Amino acid sequence: MNNKNFKRYTVTAALPYANGPLHIGHLAGCYVPSDIYVRYLRSQGREVAYICGSDEHGVAITIKAVKEGKTPQQVVDQYHEMMKGSFKQFGISFDHYSRTSAQVHHETAQGFFTDLYEKGEFLEQTTEQYYDEEAGQFLADRYIEGICPKCGNEHAYGDQCEKCGSSLSPTDLINPKSKLSGRTPVLKETKHWFLDLARYQPFLKKWILEDHADDWKNNVLGQCRSWLEAGDGLQARSMTRDLDWGIKVPLEGADGKVLYVWFDAPIGYISSTKEWAAEKGIDWQPYWKDQDTKLVHFIGKDNIVFHCIIFPAILKTHGGYVLPENVPANEFLNLEGEKISTSRNWAVWLHEYLEEFPGKQDVLRYVLTANAPETKDNDFTWKDFQGRNNSELVAIYGNFVNRAVVLTQKFYQGEVPARGELRGYDKGVLSALEEFPEKIAASIERYRFREALSIVMDFARLGNKYLADTEPWKEIKTDPERTKTILNIALNIAANLAIVSEPFLPFTASKLFEMFGMDQVSWSHAGNGKLLSEGKTLGKMGLLFEKIEDETVEKQVQKLLDSKKMNEAANAPVAPMKELITYDDFAKLDLRVVTILEAEPMPKSKKLLKLKVDIGLGHRTVLSGVADHFAPEFLVGKQVTMLINLAPRKMMGTDSEGMILMAEDKDGKLKLLQPHEGTANGSTIS
Ligand code: 2FM
Ligand code: ZN
Repeated sequence: MNNKNFKRYTVTAALPYANGPLHIGHLAGCYVPSDIYVRYLRSQGREVAYICGSDEHGVAITIKAVKEGKTPQQVVDQYHEMMKGSFKQFGISFDHYSRTSAQVHHETAQGFFTDLYEKGEFLEQTTEQYYDEEAGQFLADRYIEGICPKCGNEHAYGDQCEKCGSSLSPTDLINPKSKLSGRTPVLKETKHWFLDLARYQPFLKKWILEDHADDWKNNVLGQCRSWLEAGDGLQARSMTRDLDWGIKVPLEGADGKVLYVWFDAPIGYISSTKEWAAEKGIDWQPYWKDQDTKLVHFIGKDNIVFHCIIFPAILKTHGGYVLPENVPANEFLNLEGEKISTSRNWAVWLHEYLEEFPGKQDVLRYVLTANAPETKDNDFTWKDFQGRNNSELVAIYGNFVNRAVVLTQKFYQGEVPARGELRGYDKGVLSALEEFPEKIAASIERYRFREALSIVMDFARLGNKYLADTEPWKEIKTDPERTKTILNIALNIAANLAIVSEPFLPFTASKLFEMFGMDQVSWSHAGNGKLLSEGKTLGKMGLLFEKIEDETVEKQVQKLLDSKKMNEAANAPVAPMKELITYDDFAKLDLRVVTILEAEPMPKSKKLLKLKVDIGLGHRTVLSGVADHFAPEFLVGKQVTMLINLAPRKMMGTDSEGMILMAEDKDGKLKLLQPHEGTANGSTIS
């Protein structure tokens, strides 16, 4: 464990793929925790670069482009802006948010590749890779899906299983299928450049499992251990791909090949820092090269191997770069008991939350931190969201601050009253106030943000209890001097609370700073029971938190269920094709355009409607089992299609002389098949 004092901090948050909007899983995974950490460091007056950007390469992007009928560039342009906007609105305070399509990034990533190539670090190998013959393309990473050999997940990707976090090779997958055509791919030879990870194994083992055994999180160490202590050791991994979207491999004869997205993406942290420093007119290098810099990568658990093993191996081989001091990865956040899924639309999207809960960014930040998946997967439920808002933020934090301020306005026209003689209880509260910031800081420094937040709330509870016990609203009638002391102390607790809660609840803290007229505040001011001077006038206080009603969260749950239903219908399997027929079979069918003249329920039948139809050759009676789907009056006058030479069939005493054709949805809904306007009755269909 490294206890040294660092001169500066480079804090990174995983570059999100620019292939869709952000959801609560993203925030909980690494953006809220990293933002808390960075806000705390800044408040401590430490020098920080908080770096992120969009990950714009890889198959995640090209698959989305095909799905949306756009070019990969259009996809990344759209989502880069959208993600950047959501981060900003949630107060994620990056110093710089770049993108991997930036020129500086292409150059930096190619520079790293060339450096390693020239050092002879790559194994150049011609191997057999999966190829989709129908699509005429090699199937890198997410272009191929199959069963994970480790956990049995049926939708593991060619490079990774998102369920168990294993890193995979396409050939590890059981029953691999191309995502492009759905077909089983064939193996075909192609040349690639591999990083021989086995060479770094002894170094990685010592650096992670010995040097960081005490300060890295258990979930991170556990995954690293399973990699580094596996019987067959680390395998060589290809750092290039056969794709046309990405950063070109900077070698002669490597046409059509790009850098593996997991080679280029982490280097994106460096390029983003370069871009930031250039804009500020400062040198980027100390942030990555000075041994006094503490590098911390915030990520989700599916990114552990890339940040703890592959990227450090690249940095170490290149030389001259610091390695991460810590990689505090979170586990996954589930939603209402199910895995968040973009494709199934089982997610709470940030842009929708911002619209539906305007001004409530801190509530979500709070809930995601109080229930953060720090040590195990956790579940977000709307009920818990409501409960934490109503019984913690409103009833404790908001209630305390509100009472202190409102009473000051009422009794002292908003001026901080003078403190008189202190009683034992006051002294106890003030000495607890002195201790809180240190306890909170200790938890933050150890990446235990849940714990830190619960201590912040204990501090708010202390304030709440102090007012409940001292009852200034009653005391004012009998002992006005004592009331002044009580409110002076309560206001000072509230001002301290604003400082220590700023990393977690930045919007709320900033309202309080404004109201208390506190500028230039820093962590070092916290713990001071005399932060607010006597006679200081408080500003206006905006609403901090408000109760969330049952119907609001019920609506959100319903929204999720509705979208799940729609998705299930959309993804339900289409009826398989029937056996082949000959043209002669088809030619026997006499299909015509007809008009429904009359429609009425068939007596004693729930399903049948009795239709009178003009088929161009006269009128016919047809019994159709569509009463559940169409009102009779809806059908009258409609032109539809009909099989007119179906042998008559007697039903409930009436002959049905043909069959109206209908389309049936995957979910069993019937739709009329209507011809173009102006088609004459009796027109043949062939
Ligand atoms: O998992 C992801 O969303 C990746 N785009 C994270 C990349 S992190 C870093 F390496 F850039
Ligand atoms: Zn798995």
